Amino acid sequence: MARLTIIKQDNPLIRKTSKTVDDFSPRLHEILDNMYETLLHANGMGLAAVQVGILYRMAIILTEEYGVIEIINPIIKTAKNQRIDTEGCLSCPGISGRVRRPHFLILEYQDRNGAKQTRTFHNMDAVCCCHEIDHMNGILFIDKLEK
Ligand code: CO
Repeated sequence: MARLTIIKQDNPLIRKTSKTVDDFSPRLHEILDNMYETLLHANGMGLAAVQVGILYRMAIILTEEYGVIEIINPIIKTAKNQRIDTEGCLSCPGISGRVRRPHFLILEYQDRNGAKQTRTFHNMDAVCCCHEIDHMNGILFIDKLEK
């Protein structure tokens, strides 16, 4: 495994829309393994591929309920229980702020083998999923701060 460089908010790549993943080969697994090592080393809760300059719709999340989850090509099926919580981002070091997010989320996604999964996420796990999905669309939490 190898650690990757996390790009910051001033890098224009962070604003790009990521592409659908359609190749579930060992090369993808290697990228995901490297993202995991990068996330652990950075002491974060979640990391989207765009944050290491890879413009594909995938992210790793350290959930409370399920442990490590890889979400690839996620689709939000249900989002409810909107609440405001404080969050930060590895691409925005030193910044935190209050964002309104759903705390109940049903997500369809693919795993690293391309198999379709459906899972329910609660509380900060749901917040983290939404934060990472925003990254896939070039959106940062600082765009959504409560006044
Ligand atoms: Co982030």
